[in-house]
Order: sequence, then C-alpha cells, then structure tokens
Amino acid sequence: MKHLADVLAARLGRRELVSGGMAAAAVEFLGGCAAMPRTPIATGKALTPDPLPPLIGFEEVPPSSEDSVAVPRGYVAEVLIPWGTPLFAHSPPFAEDASNSASDQALQIGFNHDGQAYFPLEPGELGSRRGLLVLNHEFTDSNQLYTVAQGRAITPDAAGREKVEKALAAHGVTVVELARQPDGTWTHVVGSRYNRRITGTTPMAFSGPVSTSHPLLVSSITPSPLGTIANCANGRTPWNTYLTCEENFDVYFGTTDPAFQPTALESRYGAAADGSAYGFHHASERFDLAKNRNELNHFGWVVEIDPFDPRATPVKRTALGRIKHESATFTESRGRAVIYTGDDEDGDYLYKFVSSAPWRDLRATGKSPLDHGTLYAARFNEDGSGVWLPLVHGTGALTVERGFIDQADVLIRTRMAADAVEATRLHRPEWVAVHPKSGAVFVTLTNGKGNKSKVNSDRDPNPFGHIVRFTEADDDTAFAWDIFLFAGDPAHTAPIPADQPHFGSPDGLAIDADGRLWIATDVSNSSLNLESKGYARIGNNQVLAADPATKQVRRFLTGPRGAELTGICTTPDQRTLFVNVQHPGLSTKFYDEQFGAPSPANPSTVSKWPFGGRPRSATLAIRKIDGGRIGT
Ligand code: FEO
Ligand code: CA
Ligand code: CA
Ligand code: CA
Repeated sequence: MKHLADVLAARLGRRELVSGGMAAAAVEFLGGCAAMPRTPIATGKALTPDPLPPLIGFEEVPPSSEDSVAVPRGYVAEVLIPWGTPLFAHSPPFAEDASNSASDQALQIGFNHDGQAYFPLEPGELGSRRGLLVLNHEFTDSNQLYTVAQGRAITPDAAGREKVEKALAAHGVTVVELARQPDGTWTHVVGSRYNRRITGTTPMAFSGPVSTSHPLLVSSITPSPLGTIANCANGRTPWNTYLTCEENFDVYFGTTDPAFQPTALESRYGAAADGSAYGFHHASERFDLAKNRNELNHFGWVVEIDPFDPRATPVKRTALGRIKHESATFTESRGRAVIYTGDDEDGDYLYKFVSSAPWRDLRATGKSPLDHGTLYAARFNEDGSGVWLPLVHGTGALTVERGFIDQADVLIRTRMAADAVEATRLHRPEWVAVHPKSGAVFVTLTNGKGNKSKVNSDRDPNPFGHIVRFTEADDDTAFAWDIFLFAGDPAHTAPIPADQPHFGSPDGLAIDADGRLWIATDVSNSSLNLESKGYARIGNNQVLAADPATKQVRRFLTGPRGAELTGICTTPDQRTLFVNVQHPGLSTKFYDEQFGAPSPANPSTVSKWPFGGRPRSATLAIRKIDGGRIGT
C-alpha cells in the first residue's frame, strides 16, 4: 500500500497531495487492481515540505449584481470582438438597431461567444503577441438579433427565411487574428488572411465510421451536409486544429405536421414536433422534422477545423460519438490521442475517446487520430473506482440481437449505446480539464436532480453543482475519482468550507500551465440572483481560480447582468487571459421583474453591456497592469 501511495505521490505531484483526499481514494483503488500510473514522474523524495509560492495571488472580487465586469485590483479587462464586429475589409459595420442582414452577419463576428482557443502565429515569445483566436458562437437571442419591425417570430415567408439565414450566419465559429500592441492592449486584424466565419450553412465533411450515405443521414433537401450549430465548448489538438462541439441541436428542429411522431432515437435526443425554441421550421424545410427527417442526425458531433487554412472543409469526426457535446478536451496517453467529452443533459454521461495507435504514427500514415479508436462511457462506482465501458459494436450489450446494427449505428445512437452498457447517469457533465503535470482530470457537473449517488454529490436536488476529479489507470480502462469541490452558498449548502467563495453551476474549466484551475459559472437565468433558488448571495456569473492542491478558491471576475462566463484560455506566456461574456442581457427572471423583460423593441432592459446600448456578447482580454502572469 505504501508503495502505491508513493507511486501516486510521484504522479500527482506535491501540490496535488497536500489535500490528501484524492490519494486515499486512489490508493484504495490502485490497491485493488495493481494498476500503475500511465505517466510516472521520478521525483526522488515525494512530499518534501519546501515552501511553495502561493498559486493564487490576486485579491478577491466580491459577488456582484452590477451590469459590468469586475476584475481584481491591478488587472484590466478590455472588450474585444463583440458580436457584429467587422471581420473583413468589405464587412459592413455593426448596426445598433440590428438591421444588419444575414449576408452582413456572415462577414461579422458571430453571436454568443462560447468555447475558444488561442493558436500562436509565431514561435516563442512572439507567439503571445500574435495569434489566432478561434471561438464558438453557441446560440442567438431573438430579442437582440432582430429589429423592432422584424420581431421575434419566424414567419412562413421571405422575411422569415431572412431571419433564419441571419441566425444561422450568427452561429458557428469565428477564426480571427489578434495582435498585442506595445502598450499591452489587443486589437483584431481586420482582413487577416486567416479570418473566417464558419456558420450554420458552411459545407461540412463527415469522417470516421458514419458517412453521409448512411440511411439515417441521407437527405434530399441537404444531400451534402451543411453547417455547425449549438457550438458550445471546444478542444484543440497538438496538430494545431480546433474542435468545436455541437450541443443543444434539438431545439433548432420542429414541425407543424400533425402526423409526425418522433422515433425512440429522436426522442432520446430531445426532438419533438413542438420542441423548437427557434421556429426555423416555419420558414425552412431544412429544419422541419417531418420534411427533412435525417437533418437532425447531421448534428451532435465534434467538428475539426484547421484554423490555419481558411479553405479547409470542417470535418465531423463521427468516431467521437453523437451526443450533446459540451467539450472535447485533448490529452495524450501512451502516445495516443485521448478526448474527453461530456453530454450536457441531466442524467447523461461522460465519454472518452482513445485513438487506436499513437497519434503521431497515425498521422504519419495519413490517418486522422480522431477517426481510429475506441469511444468509452464512464461508470463511477460508489467506492471511488471507475471503469470505462467500450462502445464497440459486437461487444457486451451492443449486438445485433440488442438492436445495434453496426458501429455507425452505435455512434449515431451513442446515448442509447451508453444506456445499454449501463454507464453512470450524471448531473449534466460540462467541461473537462486535464492537469498538465499530474494528468488529473477535472469535470464540472453543473447541476441536476435525481440519480442520487456519490458522484452526483449525494445532494438531490443538486442545484449548485460540483467538480469531480479522477486519475486514470495505466491502460486507460479504469480510474479513481473523488469530488474536488462542492459549489453553493456555504450558509446553507453542506459540505462547503465556510471561507469558500459563493458560486454555483460551475461550467467552463481550464487549467493553465502553472496548474491553476479556472472555473467559469453558468447559473440558469431562471435561478440567477434569486433568493428562492438559494442564489441571492451568489450574484451574477463569475470566474474563479482554484488551487488543485489546497482547494483554495478565489473569485477572480464577475460578469454583467444576464451573462454567463465561458471560454477561458491564455496566451502561451500567461500574460493575457481570454474570457468570453456570453448572453449579456438575456431574459433573466430576477432582472426582468425589476426592469421588464427584454424584447426586440427594448433589448436592453436587463443589460446594456458592453457599450451602453444593445447588449453584445464579447471576448475579454485580461492582463495584469504590471505585465505579470495572470493569477499570481
Ligand atoms: Fe452550452 Fe452546456 O452549455
Ligand atoms: Ca456550457
Ligand atoms: Ca449556457
Ligand atoms: Ca451550462
């Protein structure tokens, strides 16, 4: 046992072990199956008590219900690339009255910035001054996107079609070149040869086991697949591509056909005749479940984008499964590509893809590491151990006798395959982050109810969420887990330390090169700031930093009204932290009651961020005034 504890100590490193809880759980697990760590680090004497500089050095900001962004003393946050910003030399300017057309929007920054990654354009230090920011645009808000005259509703005419086209042009991904000026401020490079919009109508390719000729994908209306939508969180690969995740795609589809009955597959992914939040089907056959049945199956994938080649066709990597993907976090194990991805629905699962061979070998033979490998779903046992259940056709429950035709069928119906192998139902798994030194994996379970179990925090309901941590066995088939943090208000939510900052619904995660765990929150707009939901003292959404070793948590940033914070990433020198402010001004029960609900006639009742008028999602470029590393 002592030997295994030492092995774990070496693997997790000193910072991780200060807290001890993880070590206890993992040692118990490792003792059972004698798994060895996959990346042992020779440390000589573990646990030497040298003082470490504090990982988190900034002064905490208080909770906020202001319509503004607050960062710690000594920091500045600049607003970059808000929705509608011109991206090309011929882009029209943003129209404050929302009168930009669909074709204007296709030449501008998209709506509701979400996950993002920074790709340096130069080697070394210069790479932190010039790079590509690649960001997702998750959804549109009809109160903000359309003019007063256009209104919210999608009508079955040319005006309705234009509104559908504008919304589709506002979704997807932006690639934009950024440059840091000598004074430390950032600008976007209008007309950079890399700048690109990928939208809900951009031609897409499919790769891996599922092809567009599959009977569940063929379509006469969209014979070639078009577009990516509901782009939530993301990932990036070491071969310099960006991964965008399609999350809540079901809410784009509906039908008025009274004969329509959803199949078990359609229902499992949330599709229903009246299930469209957007009403696109009133003006577009493409999104009519009865007229273009298989369009729904074109979505729910992870899409790989080469940001360095503006002409490259984005590729839906079907081996990674079809779920409401929240993130696609890359790490490497035994040279193989590993992608973690959560399915953000209450009671759904956490997944992992492992490539069949080292990713460098696959690439050397012209193969994509994301096309060849095994997808697994996670089972979390009550004793702190866990196993990865392979979703491979012909094995276990995934047989023809059980109704799974082949591997493509398993992947199109990933959720049903994970049901069949009895993966663990989780409280809305969102982002995943992997510690760069220890390899420890962190996943946010943002909130949920039912499915009471230890991994779901034993809280039922669990409106504040928590962060689960696990460490992988050597062969990638098993893991040991514990709960890293419980979110909530310490006043009434056990078992939170009294000095932990109030926060709820952790969603975005990132770990910087120093090992700081950055947490962004996304409290539902039906709970935000509400006393009745226990969210009064928590205030607007926020960004916090946590020390993985000590579990010290400190609030770093608070956002404007109605917004969530997301998309945390840094430049390689860690001197700039990029954070996205998503959906400022979205209808929010707490603010609607005070200021009135937003509408196309007055989109600014909840928020006027960032410029005092129509609210606009934007990226924050945050830096220390003294030029130091963020978080120190
Ligand atoms: Fe797009 Fe699960 O948040
Ligand atoms: Ca999210
Ligand atoms: Ca959200
Ligand atoms: Ca969320």
